Amino acid sequence: CPKRDMEGRSFLITAGPTWEFLDPVRFISNPSTGKMGVELARAAWYRGGDVTLVCGPGVKPDVPGARVENVVSAEDMLEKCLEFRDSDVIIKAAAVGDYRASTVQGSKIKREGMSTLALELVSNPDIAARLGQLRRDGQVLVGFAAETDNLIDNALSKMRSKGLDAIVANDVTRQGCGFGSDTNQVSMVDRRGRRMDFQGTKEEVAHFVLDVVTELLEE
Ligand code: PMT
Repeated sequence: CPKRDMEGRSFLITAGPTWEFLDPVRFISNPSTGKMGVELARAAWYRGGDVTLVCGPGVKPDVPGARVENVVSAEDMLEKCLEFRDSDVIIKAAAVGDYRASTVQGSKIKREGMSTLALELVSNPDIAARLGQLRRDGQVLVGFAAETDNLIDNALSKMRSKGLDAIVANDVTRQGCGFGSDTNQVSMVDRRGRRMDFQGTKEEVAHFVLDVVTELLEE
């Protein structure tokens, strides 16, 4: 019998990559599959939460009880997240593209006669930081940090600059960790400076993150 400790709580959870189109047939993206975010949504729903799952392209949103919103680009994801920004708990497991093309070409970029191709990129809005600025009292905001070095320091500075209550750091260079795997190894740090390490399947990691969220909601 599952614990129903999230009953009466609303959740906004993001999962997967974004696609930033260059032209009608090409885009910039990253290896996120959305598994981590989907497991979080499933765990929150299983524990009684009212869950909205905002998914990037290619994600299988296999969460029977969740409201699923599909988006493509970082700008789409921002718009959808703003609609649900009042949620009691926001968890940002999506790997949002930091840049997009300054102009999206209307027809396919031609390869003929071009040995190099220079792209001009502009930065995307930071969704987590926007939600951090708009936060209301009692809300809990949790980010993820995909790092390749200085795991804890980088995660802490992201947590502070984006106005989050906690951040789940994963070293994406490790085997069985981060993008695409069914397992993850995380260090979760929170606003009070606590650090909690956990390793397991993404389902187990999701429940671990929710256990910490429960404590943050009660504080
Ligand atoms: O999807 P899987 O294949 O299961 O892989 C899981 C994962 C590796 C994608 C996940 O565990 C993870 O680490 N997600 C966050 C990836 C990421 O984009 O990290 P970041 O360090 O670049 O961003 C930090 C935080 O800011 C994240 O919560 C991100 O959602 C958010 N962000 C980043 C950029 C941006 N423009 N807007 C944002 O909201």
